[in-house]
Amino acid sequence: MRRVMVAGNWKMNLDRSAAAALAQGIADRAGEVGDVDLVVCPPSVYLDGVARCIEGSKVALGAQNVYHEPDGAFTGEISTRMLVDVGCRYVIVGHSERRHILGETDEDVNRKTHAVLAADLTPIVCVGELLSEREAGQTAAVIRRQVEGSLAGLSADQIAELVVAYEPVWAIGTGKVATPAQASEVHDDLRKLLGERYNATSAGATRILYGGSVKPDNAAELLAQPNIDGALVGGASLKVESFLAIAAAARES
Ligand code: PGA
Repeated sequence: MRRVMVAGNWKMNLDRSAAAALAQGIADRAGEVGDVDLVVCPPSVYLDGVARCIEGSKVALGAQNVYHEPDGAFTGEISTRMLVDVGCRYVIVGHSERRHILGETDEDVNRKTHAVLAADLTPIVCVGELLSEREAGQTAAVIRRQVEGSLAGLSADQIAELVVAYEPVWAIGTGKVATPAQASEVHDDLRKLLGERYNATSAGATRILYGGSVKPDNAAELLAQPNIDGALVGGASLKVESFLAIAAAARES
């Protein structure tokens, strides 16, 4: 049985006090949500402060990015050890903004995914097609290429541990959410693909989140789909109320 997960990707938003207030607000009320894994992913400079706010609560800490090398002369980068040191358990890897704005390739995402797993952290590996790719009927091929590239060289056991997030790029921050049928089609394909490449048991254990304009009023329908195991939430994760409302919808689905 896959545990439902709702992760908030705060992106490059908030300041120190707003980050602390949001984290504290979520931690204080996390008990209301019940059986859902809650994760917050603040900007890296606020990880340490947020870790203190959520200590002792059921909210887990995640990072938005990492570098694959363990340490050394990599100015501006952050290692998995540093993330472990401040209490992270999850790392978002290969978010579409990193792929399309910062130029990350499947190869980069793959190196990071290996590093994250080696540090006993859980990667949330993001994949998703552009609008032009969807319109050209290439969605399935793009997802396959990203999954094969990003997850190359992992064992079936590692596949069972990691989290995949399907985030159609055209739905991120646009208010244009994928319909449950559109999302479901890709989630079903993703699980099938993992089953073919690894095995049914591992593929059945991988959590596959949907992301892209998830809001309290569309979460329940999306999360009711059998292969959608939770949500990666951007804009709506910046308010305690909306984040917890999505988590509540996830629990009921
Ligand atoms: P959004 O972002 O919910 O604001 O569309 C989702 C994401 O980028 O993870």
